[in-house]
Amino acid sequence: MTESLSRGAGIAVVGAAGKTGAAVVAALDGLADVRRVVHTARRSGDFAVDLETGEGLDEALSGCRAVYFIAPNVHPDEPALVRRALMAAADAGVGHVVYHSVAWPYTPAMPHHVDKARCEDELRTFGGLRWTVLQPCAYAENFAAVLDGTATAVELPYSPDATFSFVRLADVAEVAARVLMEGADVHHGATYELGGPEALSVRELCDRVAGPVSVKQVSVDEWISRHGQSLSDDGRARLSAMFEFYDRHGFTAGNAVFESLLGRPPM
Ligand SMILES: NC(=O)c1ccc[n+]([C@@H]2O[C@H](COP(=O)([O-])OP(=O)(O)OC[C@H]3O[C@@H](n4cnc5c(N)ncnc54)[C@H](OP(=O)(O)O)[C@@H]3O)[C@@H](O)[C@H]2O)c1
Repeated sequence: MTESLSRGAGIAVVGAAGKTGAAVVAALDGLADVRRVVHTARRSGDFAVDLETGEGLDEALSGCRAVYFIAPNVHPDEPALVRRALMAAADAGVGHVVYHSVAWPYTPAMPHHVDKARCEDELRTFGGLRWTVLQPCAYAENFAAVLDGTATAVELPYSPDATFSFVRLADVAEVAARVLMEGADVHHGATYELGGPEALSVRELCDRVAGPVSVKQVSVDEWISRHGQSLSDDGRARLSAMFEFYDRHGFTAGNAVFESLLGRPPM
């Protein structure tokens, strides 16, 4: 019997309260017993952990057959968080660790991407754990207000004509659910790049929605001073590096693997 048929043991989604985690939990709804592993418990049944210290991890992963690991955004030391979670997963006898990485992880100009490359290496070289890596490109939902029609203007800290292979979070989550349900027997050792259906600029994305949306480029500093107030200095530096990279190179990724895993083209 493949793991796709076993519903008994749980699947822990670390980062379940975040944007990505909520999509993965929704995609697993009705397929598996899902454990929401969060920083701050909001609902009964949530498992609270602190990835910085490892507090709560052993309990959160105990008895789970798989874990989907989503790190906090632009963390100053993501590899340390991953290492801690891998040790807890190994101690708990978790059979499959799926790591939510990013497309183009080894991009020296973007330190938070390089950290994800390091995390992938931690996973592959840890020993004794079966693993899969998902590498999604930028989410279309980063422009949620454009997609839902509530935005009339967008301020960007990079060229509005830089192109991206935007992915829909629901598609990424559907692939995550498939990988988790089919399990390590099918997906151990695999790294899947997940790019959207086409290379699209933010200007083109805005042109496609119903109402008119104006797009204006502002400096990185201006954008950070308005939208990045809650970030640490390190977080600001990491985001700034990402925006400068986007301005020069965009961020695209292939979609053939995505289509194959979805059984249809990505949206
Ligand atoms: N945005 C994109 O286009 C994109 C594309 C590819 C990959 N990614 C990656 O996807 C990941 C998730 O992004 P997201 O936008 O979904 O993030 P998010 O909404 O900010 O969610 C991150 C979650 O991390 C949790 N968290 C923060 N500090 C923690 C700690 N010390 N211990 C335990 N949990 C902690 C928070 O939990 P609480 O809410 O409970 O505090 C939060 O819900 C990031 O690593 C990002 O790099 C993003």
